[in-house]
Parts: sequence; structure tokens; C-alpha cells
Amino acid sequence: MSDAVAFPQDRTCPYHPPAAYQPLREGRPLSRVTLFDGRSVWVVTGHAEARALLSDGRLSTDRTNEAFPAPTARFKGLQNRRTALLGVDDPEHNTQRRMLIPSFSVKRTAALRPRIQETVDRLIDAMEARGPGAELVGDFALPVPSMVICALLGVPYEDHDFFEEQSRRLLRGPSVADVEEARDRLDAYLEDLIRRKRAEPGDGLLDELVSTRLEAGETDVEELVSLAGILLIAGHETTANMISLGTFTLLRHPEQLAELRSDPALMPEAVEELMRYLSIADGMLRVATREIEVGGVTIRPDDGVVFSTSVINRDGSVFAEPDALDWHRPTRHHLAFGFGIHQCLGQNLARAEMEIALGTLFERLPGLRLAADPDRIPFKPGDTIQGMLELPVTW
Ligand code: HEM
Repeated sequence: MSDAVAFPQDRTCPYHPPAAYQPLREGRPLSRVTLFDGRSVWVVTGHAEARALLSDGRLSTDRTNEAFPAPTARFKGLQNRRTALLGVDDPEHNTQRRMLIPSFSVKRTAALRPRIQETVDRLIDAMEARGPGAELVGDFALPVPSMVICALLGVPYEDHDFFEEQSRRLLRGPSVADVEEARDRLDAYLEDLIRRKRAEPGDGLLDELVSTRLEAGETDVEELVSLAGILLIAGHETTANMISLGTFTLLRHPEQLAELRSDPALMPEAVEELMRYLSIADGMLRVATREIEVGGVTIRPDDGVVFSTSVINRDGSVFAEPDALDWHRPTRHHLAFGFGIHQCLGQNLARAEMEIALGTLFERLPGLRLAADPDRIPFKPGDTIQGMLELPVTW
């Protein structure tokens, strides 16, 4: 029956699962849905089944596998290219991930907090100097994570217009040719950057990888380009969307916002609940390599499997009153950062950025409000990471 449900679809409200996913929310943990090219795949919507499957080695993330499910033509156009981390299975995945883990530890992230705070303060100073009134995506939500990931990787922030543009084209480009060109340009940029770092090392993560792993022959330029590309894109697109959509959602929930303002110590729980509620990475992808019995169905080899994070994170058997935004619920076991071996590498960093960005924004601009009709503010289409396209505000 739900075969008729197309996946992915646009949200009707930027912070709720698409209304058209309603049949997927009615009881079964796995259903069938149809992708843009007419292919029928499994969609996982049950929380327990999602955790089991995301830690099951019989599901692969190898996008070069012809049976890998493509959510868009754009994605299909890039499938023949190797993608580091998110596009490889163990043991290769484990080798790549271990090179990066120390840089994303809780301790290293905590050490970045003063720098994040300084970036956030500087951006708010600039908005205040120009305001009242700002376009929060371009003036704040995007530059915060973009500046932070540049500093962490050792990528010059002066080049941000260039890589933000390529990233936008990669995620939302109008055609396959456009997406391919964006990927080529980003790869060429990173290759050149790595070459320059070899000649003149700086103090970012990329410099460290060049001077240790690359020189020791433990990795090669192609792999480093892919790793740097995924970190650069994952590092700013997702967090930027959480800051913009998080702000919009808070402004649309005045009671919860008032509570947060009166008790800023709630911020870590609020960020976690916003992660669950917004589930911006709404469609993780896998292909089965062997048969799997789960949730009363049999997944066969070469079957495509997609995970609707927004529906999983509103599973009523795990989260009571799942459609309510509630700072006091146990929310930590949401799957908005994924689960299993590919669980988000940057989650500590993302949490720190969201806490500091949202906390400081609402503290320093107590009169912050939307400067346009909320129903007319454009948000991103369903086939990409969810977020606001723009966010006009005033204070
Ligand atoms: C709020 C912001 C973020 C969200 C919602 C998010 C979400 C996710 C999700 C759902 C996955 C798993 C995908 C899958 O299993 O198919 C993932 C993986 C990943 N994320 Fe994030 N992410 C965020 C921020 C970041 C940041 C700041 C970085 C880097 C600085 C980052 C780097 C990565 C990487 C490298 C992976 C792949 C890990 C692997 O395959 O081992 N993410 N992220």
C-alpha cells in the first residue's frame, strides 16, 4: 500500500515530517516506498529496527555498488565516485575514521569552545552594527560553522564563498552536469590546498594529516581530498541548517523559548531535543549485501534501504507525545546523528556550536523575532538536508 508513498518528499512544515509520510507512521517498522526513478525500496521507520539495522554489517554504504539506492538524479550522477567515510564499509572505513577520531574527541572539542564563542560574538556584533534586522542564514547560521570548520581543518576562510557555492551545488544543484562540475572544482581546490600544505605546513587537521599520514604513505592525495571534502561539507551545511531551523522553531514555540531563556542551563537538553524534533538529515541510505530478517520482513541482497530519521525520531513507543517539543523528555537516544559505525564524527563539535550559537543569539538579542510571515519564509526541499533557505529577523 505504502509503495505508493514517494521518498523523499518535501516537508509541509519545516520542522515536522512530511504530511505525506503519515502512512509510514502507522504501525509497521519497515514499509516499501518509491524513489524518484520508480525503484521500490525499504524505508525503516521503527526506532528499534533502525538501531539494529544501522549496526548490521550486512548493510553497506558503498555508493559505487550499482544496487545502492539513489534519492535523486543528482546523487546518481556522483555514484561512480569514491566517497570517503560515509561511502565506504569496514575495514577501509575503520582505517579512515581512526585517522580522524582524535581531532573530534570531547576534549579537543571543548578546547575549541572559546574560539566558537569568539566567532559567534563577532558575528552578532556585526549584525548589531548593521541592524536592527538581518538575514540570519547568511549573516549568522552559515558563517558560524563555516568559520569553525575552516579553522579546524586549516582551510582559508577567505575561500568560503567558493566552497559554500560548490557545496550548495553538490546538495541542490539543478542538474547532474552541474553537480559533477561542482565536485570537480571542489576536488581540484582541495588537491591544490594539499599541495600547498606539503610545501608550507600550517596548524590545521589537514596539515597534520599531510605531514604525518601522507608523508608516511598511510594515505594518498585522492583519499585526503575526499576526506577533506566530506568534512568541509558535513562540517558546515548540517550545523548551519540546525542553527537556522532551530532559531525558526524556537521563535514558533514561545513557551519553550521562554523556559529556555529563564533557565539557560537547559541548553544542552534543548539542543538534543531540537536534534530529535528537526531530524534534518532525513534519509540515510544503505544497500543490503546479504539477507536480513527484521521487523517481520525479509530484506534481500541488493535491496535498497532508506532510513526516515524524522519518522524514526517520532516513534511513539520510544518518545512519549513525539510531536511535542519538550526539554524535559529523555531524548538522548534519538538517531539524528545516525547510529553504528557511521554515527556522526562531528557530533561533539556540532553540539558545542549549536549550544553557543543559539544560547548567545537569544541572550544578546532578547527582542529577536521573525521579520516576515512565517508561512512565507522558504525552506529547503525534502531531497536534501532540511533547513531554512533564508531567515529574515529583527530585534
Ligand atoms: C547538527 C549537525 C549535524 C548533523 C545533523 C549530522 C548528521 C549526521 C548523520 C545522520 C550522519 C550519519 C549518516 C549515515 O549513517 O548515513 C553523519 C555522519 C557524519 N558526519 Fe555529521 N552531522 C552534523 C554535523 C557534523 C559536523 C560538524 C561534522 C564535521 C566536522 C560532521 C561530520 C560527519 C562525518 C565525517 C560523518 C561520516 C562518519 C562516518 O561515516 O564514519 N557532521 N552526520
